[in-house]
Amino acid sequence: MNMKDKQTLMSIDKQQYLISRLADGKFHSGESLAQEMGISRAAVWKRIQTLADMQLDIYSVNGKGHRLSQPLEVLNTNTIEENLSIVARATLADLTVLQVVSSTSEYLHTLLNNQSIHASVVLAEYQNKGKGRRGKQWVSPYASGLCISLGWHFDSTPASYTALSLATGVAVCKSLQGLGIQNVGLKWPNDIVSDGKKLGGILLESRSETAGCSDVVIGIGINVNLPEKSRISIQQAVIDLNGISQTPVSRNTLSAAVIEELFTMLEQYQQHGFSSCISQWRELDAYKGKEADLILPNETLKGEILGIDENGLLLMRVNGETCRFSSGELSLRVH
Ligand code: BTN
Repeated sequence: MNMKDKQTLMSIDKQQYLISRLADGKFHSGESLAQEMGISRAAVWKRIQTLADMQLDIYSVNGKGHRLSQPLEVLNTNTIEENLSIVARATLADLTVLQVVSSTSEYLHTLLNNQSIHASVVLAEYQNKGKGRRGKQWVSPYASGLCISLGWHFDSTPASYTALSLATGVAVCKSLQGLGIQNVGLKWPNDIVSDGKKLGGILLESRSETAGCSDVVIGIGINVNLPEKSRISIQQAVIDLNGISQTPVSRNTLSAAVIEELFTMLEQYQQHGFSSCISQWRELDAYKGKEADLILPNETLKGEILGIDENGLLLMRVNGETCRFSSGELSLRVH
């Protein structure tokens, strides 16, 4: 390891230490933090600024020190693994929690250049280039949501990635329901919604190989405790789990629940395809029967949402005719 790498590692550890000290939401004086970390008060101040860059809400008060606007729960690989069933633990190839990364999905794609990413899971507290669908950015301030990606290798390429991403939506909803959060549904193709607002999203990316096999990176973002400030930068109505759950949701418990359901879904999908969960998707369909605009690259169609067909394509009645649409560059605006 060269000198620069060593310095970077040290600085990440210090940053992590600082966050873990501030996680209780109480004031910590610059002096005590400097002493504990073996750095100057000016250096502590500099690090506090970088926390603000990760959209952490920090208050600094003269004579009192620094505190987060609210306590936060940091992700922990041991806690997540402890919450997994024996079967899921046996399936899991690797579980990584990153503090800061460009994108958890990008991280897995880079790994895939040199190694298998099958059943590998990556979580990040903060993504500085989180990817959403249709080139949008996924906004999730430090520790305010779940940013998770999972790699999966298919020996035989799935017939439809649209259907696989729909199946992923079902798995995410089941994990939320398992935690007692009932008021969740799906908006085609793969938004997780509650009360007509976006709670989470799914981005599925695949890489096909020779001999008919392929690797898939399933990226999932869920809003858990989304600060008011950051909602302004998101150009659609959003909601978070703490807004719909009676009790605060543990991000570690949620991570385990999502991993568990994804593994179950993927094993079933490999054997039975989309038929294994089509009826569940239909039950979770939050917009069947609603009027909507379907935004295509060159035109916008108005119609009534009829649901999905057996391949996960959207069925819409447009000008009295039943039409089918695959995902891709489509966007659905429901009235
Ligand atoms: C959407 O636009 O609805 C899809 C959002 C997907 C966001 C997740 S967060 C984890 C993973 N890493 C990314 O960069 N994007 C996905």
